[in-house]
Amino acid sequence: MKRILVTGALGQIGAELVLALRERYEPDAVVASDIRIPTDRDPPGPFEYVDCTELRQVKEVVRKYDVDTIFHLAALLSAVAEGKPRVAWEVNMGGLYKVLEVARESHCAVFHPSSIGAFGPSTPRMSTPQDTIQRPTTMYGVTKVAGELLCDYYYHRFGVDTRGVRYPGLISYVAPPGGGTTDYAVEIFYDAIRNQRYTCFLKSDTCLDMMYMPDAIKAAIDLMEADPSRLEHRNAFNVAAANFTPDALAKEIQKHIPDFQMEYDVDPVRQDIADSWPDSIDDSAARSEWDWAPSYDLESMTRDMLENLAKKLKKEKRL
Ligand code: NAD
Ligand code: SER
Repeated sequence: MKRILVTGALGQIGAELVLALRERYEPDAVVASDIRIPTDRDPPGPFEYVDCTELRQVKEVVRKYDVDTIFHLAALLSAVAEGKPRVAWEVNMGGLYKVLEVARESHCAVFHPSSIGAFGPSTPRMSTPQDTIQRPTTMYGVTKVAGELLCDYYYHRFGVDTRGVRYPGLISYVAPPGGGTTDYAVEIFYDAIRNQRYTCFLKSDTCLDMMYMPDAIKAAIDLMEADPSRLEHRNAFNVAAANFTPDALAKEIQKHIPDFQMEYDVDPVRQDIADSWPDSIDDSAARSEWDWAPSYDLESMTRDMLENLAKKLKKEKRL
C-alpha cells in the first residue's frame, strides 16, 4: 500500500481508519473522501469530495493521486437502509461496482467491509461458521452478501486483490455511528456519562457480537497487509471480539457508574433486524489465515470507552 483512497472517510470507521493509515504510512499518501465536507473537528490532510456512485469521480481521484489501494467504506447501514432500500441498493451495490471497475482498470487492491448482517434467520445462530447459509431478510444484508460475491468475482475473473471482513457491531467514541442496529452499544456510553440513564431500543437479552474500534481498524490493516498466499476466503472473513446483550453491557457500565439506570423502549424494526442476525460468529478462519486476534473484551472496552469518551465530552464542553 503506497497511495491509499478511503471512501466514506468521515463515517464511524473512516474517522479512525484514516488516522491509523496516516500514522502507519506517509500522511500525505492517504486521501480521505466522502460526500460530506470535513469540519474543523475532522483531522487535517488530503480530502476530496467523491460520490462513490459516480464512476467519473472515483476514476478521477484514483488517477490524480495514483492510488493503489482503496478502503471502500461508503455505505448505508442496516437501519437507514431498511428505511431507504432503493438508495441503499444504489449506494451499497452501485458504489461498490464503480469502485471495483476503477480498481480493475487502475490495478488497485480493495478492502470492502461486510457485516454480520450478511447472515439471516436460516443461518446457524450460534458460532456461525465462516462458510454457511446466507439468506438475509434486510436490504442491508442483501447488499452485503451480493457485495461479498461481487468482490470474489472481481478477484477470480479480473485478478483484483479484493479482501474483506464481516464486522460485528462496532463501538467507538471518535465519530458517531451512522444508523445501524447495533448503535445502542455506542449511544449507551454517551447517555451513561451525560445523564446516568439510557433507553435502549433493543430487548435486554438480544445477544450480538461486538467489537471495539481499535480492533476493527487493526483487522482492516492486518488483512490488507496479509500474505495473499495464505488467504483462502478473502470476501469476507468472520471477525469477532466481544459477545454480549444490552443487559450485560448495562451491568458492566454500572461497575464504573453505579447510579446508571437502563430502560427499554423496543423499536420493532431494529429488533427484527437484530433477531435475524447470529448470536455469535466463529472467526477461526481469520485466526488461521491471517492471525486475527482481538485485543479488547467487554471489560477492557467498557473501561477504555468510558475514560476516553468522558475526556472528549469534557473537552467539547470547554470549547
Ligand atoms: P457510517 O455510516 O458511519 O459512514 C459511512 C460514510 O459514507 C458517511 O460518512 C457517509 O457520508 C458516506 N457516504 C454515504 N453515501 C456515500 C456516497 N454515495 N459516496 C461517498 N460516501 C458516501 O458507516 P461506518 O460505520 O463507517 O461503516 C463503513 C462500512 O463498514 C460500511 O460498509 C458498513 O456496512 C460496514 N460495517 C460497519 C459496521 C459498524 O458497526 N459501524 C459493522 C459492520 C459493517
Ligand atoms: N453495526 C452495523 C449495523 O447495525 C452492522 O453491520 O448496521
